[in-house]
Amino acid sequence: MAKTFPFKSLNIKGLNIKPPLILAPMSELSCAPLRQLVAQIGGCGLFYTEMLNSRIISSCSLKDDPFLITGNESPIVAQLVGNDPKKIEMSIKRLEELGIFSGFDINMGCSRNSIMRHGWGLALFEDIDSALKVLEAARGATDLPLIVKIRSGVKHDLKKMIERVKAFSNIGCDAVVLHPRAKKDGFKRPARWEEIKILKQEIDIPVIGNGDITSVEDIFKMYNQTSCDAVMIGRAAIVRPWIFRQAIDKDFLPDPVDILEKAAINFEQLLPKELASKRFYLFLSWYLRNWPFFRYVLKGLNTSMSVKEMLLYVKEKIRDQKPVLDGPCFISRI
Ligand SMILES: Cc1cc2nc3c(=O)[nH]c(=O)nc-3n(C[C@H](O)[C@H](O)[C@H](O)COP(=O)(O)O)c2cc1C
Repeated sequence: MAKTFPFKSLNIKGLNIKPPLILAPMSELSCAPLRQLVAQIGGCGLFYTEMLNSRIISSCSLKDDPFLITGNESPIVAQLVGNDPKKIEMSIKRLEELGIFSGFDINMGCSRNSIMRHGWGLALFEDIDSALKVLEAARGATDLPLIVKIRSGVKHDLKKMIERVKAFSNIGCDAVVLHPRAKKDGFKRPARWEEIKILKQEIDIPVIGNGDITSVEDIFKMYNQTSCDAVMIGRAAIVRPWIFRQAIDKDFLPDPVDILEKAAINFEQLLPKELASKRFYLFLSWYLRNWPFFRYVLKGLNTSMSVKEMLLYVKEKIRDQKPVLDGPCFISRI
């Protein structure tokens, strides 16, 4: 393992990210119980909500919105998806009034067809005029840090990507997250970390690197290879919520069963019952990858079970199995 973790904190317009390790936005996964779990274990410098629909946030009651539930994790950035400048502006103003969020992010990376067909996510990144209008509206709505999360593009086109990020920075964006994959790559091809390095050399705002971190060693590698200002971790943080803590404290030894129990408590306490079951099941579909035969264990679970029932079932099944915690964790689709 590389010995020099650059423990410089990252400051984005007054938001101090220390250590510069960030939990990625992941719809249905990076909800309050997971974020709080990661915070309880330690080592994560910034949390993200999953993407929030600006159509809903700009107009509906926010009082009982389960997507806005938070635990004791902090600081948190709210990520918005949408392409209507007025709705983005209104959403930011309404969210800022809640007093929970330390910054905002505009999703320009999601390549799902269900998102892109509305002109959102990666489709917004590809439509530069609309993207600039959205960012101008967002910038006008808040003085808090404004971040844009992008991927390489529909196709890899470094020149175009760099030009776009420069334009975003010129209208007041404070940082960029790059997941260096094109739409056609899906998760099949490795993320092209060299694009993070080139973007970092070309622009003045902080660059947050993201994509394919599977171990603490990968965090060090991404820092060293790309000189990025912070590392954002997605899938590996669900399988190993202790990855942040181990990055800053190499002697930290997780107790995966204890962490499973803590997770169950968070899901039960923070989410309404039915949603808690759905989200806990999804969490387990990643977390159980730490044990051999996890597919077999998953088969015995379903979302009509309560969180407690799922926990009891899983504990019984893994009782005599040793988790495999060394080396890279398994983050591919199953
Ligand atoms: C299940 C799932 C849901 C995701 N949801 C979002 C999202 O809401 N907003 C977003 O910007 N990216 C989303 N992403 C992309 C991640 O934030 C991240 O860019 C991607 O997973 C690569 O990082 P990783 O290799 O560390 O997982 C999602 C990814 C996954 C696997």
